Amino acid sequence: MNTISISRRNFAQLLGAAAAATLVRPEFSFAKQPEHVAATAGVVRLSANENPYGPSPKALQAITDSFGLACRYPDEHNSILIDKLAKLNAVSHDQILLGDGSSEILKLCAETFTGKERGTLVAADPTFEAILEQASANGAEVVKVPLTSSFAHDLPKMGAAAQRGLIYVCNPNNPTASITPNDQLRDFITKTPRATMILVDEAYFHYADSPDYESVIPLVKDNSNLIVARTFSKVYGMAGLRCGYCVAQKETIERMRPYQMWDSVNIMALAAASASLDDPDQVPNGQRLNKEVKEFTVGQLDKMGYKTIPSQANFIMIDCKRPVVPLIKAMKERGIQVGRLFPALSNHMRLTIGKKSEMETFLAAFNAVMT
Ligand SMILES: Cc1ncc(COP(=O)(O)O)c(C=O)c1O
Repeated sequence: MNTISISRRNFAQLLGAAAAATLVRPEFSFAKQPEHVAATAGVVRLSANENPYGPSPKALQAITDSFGLACRYPDEHNSILIDKLAKLNAVSHDQILLGDGSSEILKLCAETFTGKERGTLVAADPTFEAILEQASANGAEVVKVPLTSSFAHDLPKMGAAAQRGLIYVCNPNNPTASITPNDQLRDFITKTPRATMILVDEAYFHYADSPDYESVIPLVKDNSNLIVARTFSKVYGMAGLRCGYCVAQKETIERMRPYQMWDSVNIMALAAASASLDDPDQVPNGQRLNKEVKEFTVGQLDKMGYKTIPSQANFIMIDCKRPVVPLIKAMKERGIQVGRLFPALSNHMRLTIGKKSEMETFLAAFNAVMT
């Protein structure tokens, strides 16, 4: 066995270094963290479809490097990130609008394209609810169209229900993690009258690997009514930093911009997002780890007799065969947060794919709660 002798003075220096390390890397010691750091310590959080592996090391470095810029407005950083995203998506600079998370993009779409005079919002049921609330707050009629039996968007019915305004297509869909096949979506986009806007939310784009799935960003060129939203909150692991964007034609971006707060994306988020795009490992690592742990979890649930909707995202929807609300509560009492109730699927539990150890903790608790 190797033993290292350290003098009392060296030992004190080491302790000092450890304390400093704790300040820089808080995850190394949860014991005595201030409340703002320790708020979620000890809780297994499988409720918000976050990436448990966190941001790219390049993003963390970029944040550290930009501490000194905290006193500056983020104009240049905004522009640098837009340039990178324009290149990545093969569009021009004026076809990208950044948002304070893609949530801001959704809100801007509701404000710009729905309302008493502007028209209805048509969305699937169930789907990610944020934009429904925002359209309603904007005075718009909101029409919900149930998903098909294969949990795809029922595009013909959604098209028929639209009165100008906006059609929201979440693909892959939250909370079902299911996709709407690309041939159907492409056809729908091409045939929808241009006076009706279509927002395709691709928050979970990176996790979808079905041959029937593809991004609709390339369709923006020929479809003036198409907007595609993306986020840095999922595979890029930056949910707490807040950065998202959309791709659309220049005229559409110009219609949305007046509704946006100036400088809405902070300089740390911009620097981190920009650096993430330079990390060739962030996306494949996130995809691989999610797939492995998802397969493990689905396999274990299957052995326990619980089916899941086939998932093309970083979360799954479990058919619990009984009302989920008491189960959500029972899991919470065991320190495990799972997804909220989606009333259209009231026996289903939405579960984010965390790290393998977190899923093992979940499975043990789920087994106890269900028996
Ligand atoms: C489908 C979908 N769109 C948008 C968002 C908002 O993400 P953010 O504002 O973090 O980019 C979420 C968050 O979970 C989501 O599930």
